[in-house]
Amino acid sequence: MRTKNKIYAAFFTVCTTFLLAQSGIQSKHILDLDGASTHIKIQPTMYGIFFEDINFAADGGLYAELIKNRSFEFDEPLTGWKQPNTKTLSPNLDSGFLIIHTDASKTNKNYARITVLNDKNYLLENEGFRGIGIHQGEKYDFSFYLENVSGNIKEMKAELIDEKGQSIVAVSIPVSGKGWQKYAAVFSPKRTVEKAKLQITFVGNGVVNMDMISLFPQDTWKGRKGGLRKDLVQKLYDLKPGFLRFPGGCIVEGRTLAERYQWKKTIGKVEDRENLINKWNNGFAHRLTPDYWQSFGLGFFEYFQLSEDLGAEPLPILSCGMACQFNTAELVKMEDLDPYVQDALDLIEFANGDISTPWGKVRAEMGHPKPFNLKFIGIGNEQWGEDYIERYKVFEKAIHAKYPKITIVSGSGPSPDGEFFEYGWKELKKLNAQIVDEHYYNSPEWFLENATRYDKYDRKGPKVFAGEYAAQSVGVVKPENKNNWLTALSEAAFMTGLERNADVVTMTSYAPLLAHADGWQWTPDLIWFNNLSTYATPNYYVQKLFSNNKGTDLLKITENGKALTGQKKLYSSAVFDEKSKEIIIKIVNADIQPKEMNLNTKNLRFGDKMIKIILSADTLDTENSFTSEPIQPKENSESIKRGKISTEIPPKSVVILKINKL
Ligand code: AHR
Repeated sequence: MRTKNKIYAAFFTVCTTFLLAQSGIQSKHILDLDGASTHIKIQPTMYGIFFEDINFAADGGLYAELIKNRSFEFDEPLTGWKQPNTKTLSPNLDSGFLIIHTDASKTNKNYARITVLNDKNYLLENEGFRGIGIHQGEKYDFSFYLENVSGNIKEMKAELIDEKGQSIVAVSIPVSGKGWQKYAAVFSPKRTVEKAKLQITFVGNGVVNMDMISLFPQDTWKGRKGGLRKDLVQKLYDLKPGFLRFPGGCIVEGRTLAERYQWKKTIGKVEDRENLINKWNNGFAHRLTPDYWQSFGLGFFEYFQLSEDLGAEPLPILSCGMACQFNTAELVKMEDLDPYVQDALDLIEFANGDISTPWGKVRAEMGHPKPFNLKFIGIGNEQWGEDYIERYKVFEKAIHAKYPKITIVSGSGPSPDGEFFEYGWKELKKLNAQIVDEHYYNSPEWFLENATRYDKYDRKGPKVFAGEYAAQSVGVVKPENKNNWLTALSEAAFMTGLERNADVVTMTSYAPLLAHADGWQWTPDLIWFNNLSTYATPNYYVQKLFSNNKGTDLLKITENGKALTGQKKLYSSAVFDEKSKEIIIKIVNADIQPKEMNLNTKNLRFGDKMIKIILSADTLDTENSFTSEPIQPKENSESIKRGKISTEIPPKSVVILKINKL
């Protein structure tokens, strides 16, 4: 009988939902908003960004260098380079040839020795990062180091050509004198081309050595020479992130310990920074990227500088002596851990030390005498098991002995539950860990069902950093995953749960952040770009709406005395912003029918206008693209009549309501 009843009830619900959806009849909801303080602060770090050099995010992306393998350091030193007129059979008397010379005493040891035998024919070409993006009317700094070894080479010519081999712009640079010299010229292209190539030719025959062949737009973020891509940084800036986590991700750990990220190798002069294979080069057999390396032009100094530019707290993550446990899981022995710990201590000095300290002096010499005011440091990325806890303890002791005010972020492994997760949390709690990083890549349904995840977390335990999360439309690391509206909507629903638990969750970030449309390994990603432009995903707009409206104090919003965590597919959280004096209510309607929302308020006086921002799409599979962004926030203003707040929450939407508190 019971089963029968259940079947009837289910049938009734399905029919009613269908009929309501068809008729457009709205279900009515009376929410109660209490303007009195909950005494829970929304941390300024609540919504931040996770940066990792995956998907060409740094080289080929944010770092605006346009020449791939500019100093011939890749394992295959001619990766990205071609000599189209040089026959493979020597002696190439009709053109010339290039061989790689190595100076083992240097960090950046390779250079190209070019022998020009017939300057009419010799040609050297660089393909850029899936082409070179060139904008009409902009200026590009071209530079290289050259040593005139022998012969009578008088000029070096550089030309940008389009996909059809047609010239876009050319410069010619006189070569003179002996010894290594830096040469420079400026390209002023009259056309926009997405996939240009650089061609180098010579006037005269002879032998030259070349290194650091580089091309940068002048119009970088803040106009810095050799700086960052302006359009991409702008997108990050617009998020108003509370923190910037860098440099990853698994890239911190490396496939092997030798390939881990070592911050000291990423500072100083760019030409002296030792290149390293990128972990994502062959991370996935289905997305092999053999031309993916790290030049470290975007290194730790630049990450700190970027954090400062964005007004975000820097959050560097360091290797704890464990290589990626999905790869070799190589472990440094406990007795050999000291240099790793020292790296962490030195990094804090590099960021915060007075210029009289050894590492503070290095920072000052790089152009930033003022400290970066580092407050957080992460030990290990996504480590798990006893080996991690054992190593974490050593780091924690050493860091807090010297820098008691630094907050340490520890990790709980790659999953949001299960044996490793439980063990990590249990041990970290015992150790009074300060902030624990959790990672979850999961289905949209999981996100919709887990808005209550933190409701029962221990209020006296470590704080939570939801450090990597993203809804996967197909499955984790599936190349078919899409940044569609369903994924963004489900993340928004989940994020109301993060916000409602702001006393436990103090930092959150979507991952990964950036992806080159022609060079990605992992999808979904927050921002997509190609050589010329970028677009924001629906997920980006969800992040932006939450981050730009994070407020300062949590408020209580309920229906029938309960937080909205998915009842009738509605989710909600509310905050007060003490600067703007606004009450900000976030409502996510994951239902296919609209909802009529009436708000009862107490302990609150407010004005007669309400700003309403709506993010929604007609269908759950809608996506944004380079050519159109159908999903973006739409803002309007509604009047509040006789103190009654009443509004419609459209189907499948994220709605932000802002009301002035009097
Ligand atoms: O975000 C992509 C990867 O996912 C990160 O590098 C890693 O931490 C996680 O497994």
